[in-house]
Amino acid sequence: MPRIAYVNGRYVAHADACVHIEDRGYQFADGVYEVCEVARGYIVDAERHLDRLARSLSELQMAWPMHRSTLEIVMAEVVRRNGVKNGLIYLQVTRGVASRDFLFPADTKPSLVITAKKIAPAVNAKKAEHGIKVITVPENRWDRVDIKTVGLLPNVLAKEKAKAAGAQEAWFVDADGNVKEGGSSNAWIVTKDGVLVTRPAEHGILRGITRTTLFEVAAKLGLKIEERGFSVAEAKAAREAFISSATTIAMPVVAIDGAPVANGHPGSVVLSLREAFFDVAEKRLA
Ligand code: PDD
Repeated sequence: MPRIAYVNGRYVAHADACVHIEDRGYQFADGVYEVCEVARGYIVDAERHLDRLARSLSELQMAWPMHRSTLEIVMAEVVRRNGVKNGLIYLQVTRGVASRDFLFPADTKPSLVITAKKIAPAVNAKKAEHGIKVITVPENRWDRVDIKTVGLLPNVLAKEKAKAAGAQEAWFVDADGNVKEGGSSNAWIVTKDGVLVTRPAEHGILRGITRTTLFEVAAKLGLKIEERGFSVAEAKAAREAFISSATTIAMPVVAIDGAPVANGHPGSVVLSLREAFFDVAEKRLA
């Protein structure tokens, strides 16, 4: 089945899909995006992802590319046309095409691109079995990482650095030595007492949708969560560490900066969260 992309009103062959050279997403990273997991034929937590998209658009004074309910239909159609049962859907809205000028263009229609991709569940299951390694890097991003913009160059460089070190994610660390979040995920630890700890999302990190749903999963499992900062040293000494994102769900972290977390194997708490996730997450649309 050939891949199909939705680009500004048309379903086109993925290989031929393109946007204009003066799209502001391309020139200024003047755009926002969402990545949703597709699992067992459903788009996971679509409502929350679209709520966050609404917030991102509003923070950047950008218009919706179409009515929200129409967007939901197009998202489902992209998933359907690509035959995705498990994988992800990517949605990007930019301020549109305009002659290059820093100021917002008047009367420009936002651009909308949606793609979907199959990913075999076994790929992530295998990763979760072994866990991933992370490195830490100093925070060097702008102050508004709570907005999910396509301006991700520091994240790209940090993740590239992780790869060079044999790791799969980089954790940004603030000036006080506290972990903020990963290049494309939120960061968590489990204390010796079995309490989940993750940084508050009011400022300085992206409020991950998976993170939000994991609060409900934890409640269902009777696990306590503390929203507070934690240092790299605390993470290294923790009982467990893990990351969360739409593409990884809850994924064990088994080493930080080359040092094993606990016995260097995935912990039982993160695996139980992972297991229970789909019983709790919203499944709809496709
Ligand atoms: N990234 N923090 C950052 C910086 C992220 O880029 C992401 C997601 C998250 C987790 O958010 P969520 O649970 O809503 O996926 C946290 C996506 C997956 C990406 O850019 O591919």
